[in-house]
Amino acid sequence: LSAHCRPPIVAPARTALAAAAAALAAGRLVGLPTETVYGLAGAAGDALAVARIFAAKGRPAFNPLIVHVPDLPAAGRLGQLTDAARALAEAFWPGPLTLVVPRRADSGLADLVSAGLDTIALRVPAHPVARALLRTAGLPIAAPSANPSGRLSPTRAADVAGAFDAAQLSLVLDGGPCPIGVESAIVGFAGERPVLLRQGGIAEEELEAVCGPLGRPGDDRVQAPGMLLSHYAPAARLRLDAAAAEPGEALLAFGPTVPACAGPVRNLSPAGDPVEAAANLFRMLRELDALADRIAVMPVPRAGLGAAINDRLARAAAPR
Ligand code: TXA
Ligand code: MG
Repeated sequence: LSAHCRPPIVAPARTALAAAAAALAAGRLVGLPTETVYGLAGAAGDALAVARIFAAKGRPAFNPLIVHVPDLPAAGRLGQLTDAARALAEAFWPGPLTLVVPRRADSGLADLVSAGLDTIALRVPAHPVARALLRTAGLPIAAPSANPSGRLSPTRAADVAGAFDAAQLSLVLDGGPCPIGVESAIVGFAGERPVLLRQGGIAEEELEAVCGPLGRPGDDRVQAPGMLLSHYAPAARLRLDAAAAEPGEALLAFGPTVPACAGPVRNLSPAGDPVEAAANLFRMLRELDALADRIAVMPVPRAGLGAAINDRLARAAAPR
């Protein structure tokens, strides 16, 4: 694609928010910053808009979308939240948490949003630009991560504008780099007990402190259909848990002690902080992907956000 048919990147001034809201109302898509990653946003009640999201991403029709709402009462109008779901929502919304709950029959959402399931994924984002657009547009917003299906998630406006053309995407609201950098944690409430469907921007330990032990996908009938083994994939091949880079490899490092490397190096967190590492993960993978065919990745501890980082790295390294 040539640069002139890319969607424009716009500062989130009042006029740009109004333009974005008008685009959503007209069934068109906009690039939306959230605290986790950028979303490919469309009106969740508009079947055509939702179909455009699936088409633009090349997303399989069995993989449902997350619906973004301004607050807990708005979520309660779309889905049935149990007391345990409500407790998590009150503790972590607005923030990087998605709840999968039974969908209300009168939700007004397009059927395609939940890909034929009787549940709906709901999230109240914390990013001020996402909140401003939800307020201005006044409708629930369906937004998967704004990357072609299976590829690295976007954490900067330019990542989004570079992946779509202006016919697919009206504009990208520029909210700066996403502060958390990995997608929301997803907890499913459709079965007997809550299940952690996706590790994400809130650590499992923090979630369990509020709602008790979380089951694993497969413990119950609930699954996140999008949790495919190969996902978040750069073009380069990844080698995980590497002590050092071999000749021809770039190095994705973690922590204060970085082995010598002849190729390009990025350090997720020189201080060894998993929060900083999560914020840098997708950007640094993109940068090294542009510079090398093979990337050695140093081990990242699994505590806190380290679990989500390891999940993304394992899927990025998976055979495809
Ligand atoms: O942080 C995030 O959650 C970002 C930002 C943009 O909000 N969004 C995001 O969306 O990561 P996406 O589409 O890339 O991932 C949504 C995940 C998929 O794995 C999908 O299968 C799962 O949520 N999901 C959605 N609806 C579901 C449902 N009803 N039941 C089970 N899983 C569901
Ligand atoms: Mg995604």
